[in-house]
Parts: sequence; structure tokens; C-alpha cells
Amino acid sequence: MPEEGLADAFGVTEEARAKINLALHVTGQRADGYHLLDMLVTFADCGDRLGFLPAQADAFTLSGPFGETLAGDGGANLVLRARDLLRETVGALAFPVHIHLQKNLPIASGIGGGSADAAATLRGLMRLWGMDLPVETLASLALKLGADVPMCLESRPLIARGIGERIEAVPELPAFAMVLANPLKGVSTPEVFRRLAAKNNPALHLAPGLSGTSGWLTAIGSARNDLEAPARELVQEIAVISQMLQAHGALITRMSGSGATCFGIFTSMAAAHEAASALHGERPDWYVQATETVSGGM
Ligand code: C5P
Repeated sequence: MPEEGLADAFGVTEEARAKINLALHVTGQRADGYHLLDMLVTFADCGDRLGFLPAQADAFTLSGPFGETLAGDGGANLVLRARDLLRETVGALAFPVHIHLQKNLPIASGIGGGSADAAATLRGLMRLWGMDLPVETLASLALKLGADVPMCLESRPLIARGIGERIEAVPELPAFAMVLANPLKGVSTPEVFRRLAAKNNPALHLAPGLSGTSGWLTAIGSARNDLEAPARELVQEIAVISQMLQAHGALITRMSGSGATCFGIFTSMAAAHEAASALHGERPDWYVQATETVSGGM
């Protein structure tokens, strides 16, 4: 469904922006097995889109380039879990709803598609059902759905610590011209964590008062994604994507989340579009997307 079509057919629409881990340091592990992380996160101006409409009975429909893949997974997705969890919380106010998900992001790809969809469902249903839950209540519902869902509720530049629940906005982070590339090989997040050689890596330290794109690029360049090495064992293309993005002029390349999507940061959106179309020509079977990330002062 085209963008205008979704807005015409559904009274309430929400964007589920792709989540980009500019840095992801694994600093420890909790007793329950979850890993302690330091993450610098931003959000892209591309993503999934959701529509919400009152209905006689609950319904869920899918479209978009990856809609069929998700349906093939049994449709057991976080959107329905988010709907059910919010309904348990608000009770009688929660009338039946038709939810439509336009799935534009690849599945299990490290850019938070499922988590962003769940967060957008919480936001959209709050509007449709006319509710105003306290921010803390919503954040704790989000955390029950997944470690990345609270940050996707925010969808603006932030640092997340703990397993992702301790969030601090980063209003100084500038927008970046970016290319996202994924070889369309889904990665299992638990499997990547299992392969991690060291769990207690150095924390993320950002100098106070960072400003300007070049200052931030230096800081990001000296940070890491500790999940990249174990993910490369599972998906050999990850190393190739980074090389190709660099060959097309990326200033910095890195994997996002548990992969396999990698991003390249470029000097301008014109350079990002040029690199994306070259990469798409070389690897027409990959997901390749030029995008501008949101700025902290959005
Ligand atoms: O919370 P979420 O369902 O997204 O996490 C998926 C899996 O990734 C968890 O079951 C866990 O194995 C792993 N994980 C982890 N530490 C985190 C986040 C996720 O070990 N901070």
C-alpha cells in the first residue's frame, strides 16, 4: 500500500523507524543470561509503517516487500503481542482493531524492525483507544516485549545502558547520511550472543561536550560493535558489505545490532544515494537503502 493509501484507509498511522546501533559495547552479563550493553543509537528516516482502525473484530493484515516473509513465519509477531499486552493493561477501553503492517524492513536484520513495530503499535493504539498512560508505565510494557522496544518508543538519538532500559537522550547528535545494506540472511540474536568470546569489554566513553559532525564521527569511529565478530562467523557477507561500502566512499562502516545489516556513513545524501545505487547494481539481491538519520534536536 502506498504511503498516502495507508493514511487514507487508516485513521491513525505510525512510523516504525529503523534503529541503528552506532555503537554497541557488551560490558557484562546478568544472572538471568541477558547481556549488559552500552549503546549509542539513532533512527533512520526509513522503516515500517502501521495503520490502525476500529473494527468489528480484531484483524491483522500485512503488505510491503517483506510482508510475505513475516506471514510465512506464522505472523507470530511483536505487533500482536504489543496489542494484547496493552489491552490487558487498559481493559474495557480497548475496542477491537484492524492493524495493518507495511513491512519495509528485512526480518531479523539488526535494525529493530520487530521492536520498532511493537513500539509503534503501543503508540498507535494509545492514540486510537484515546489513552494517556504515564511514560513509565508504557516503558515497562515495552520492556516486557523486548529489550530494544523502550528505545524504539523514543525513536530519537539516545544512549541506552543495562539491557536497553536505561535511556538517556542525546540531543547533540547530528543527522548522518547513511547507506544500509543487508544480504537478506536473517540472524538469530541469541545465537550471536552465544558466540561472543568476551562478555566484559570496555564500556562506551563519549567525551563530554561533543559537537559537530566531525567530532561525533571521530567518537563513533573509535567505538565498536562487539557483536560484529560473532555475527561474521554466521554470515560471511558482513565483512564483504563493509568493504563494499568503504569502496563506495563510506567514512565509517559498522554492523548494527546483532546483524546482519551494516551501515556506512557518507559525507552527504548525494554521496549516499550514489553509493546505494552502485551497490544495488552490484548486489541486486541485497536490501540496500540510502537514508538520513534523525538529528537529536529534531
Ligand atoms: O529482548 P529480545 O527478545 O529482543 O532479546 C532476544 C534475545 O537476545 C534474548 O532472548 C537473549 O538471548 C539475547 N539478548 C541478550 N542480551 C540483551 C538483549 C538480548 O542476551 N541485552
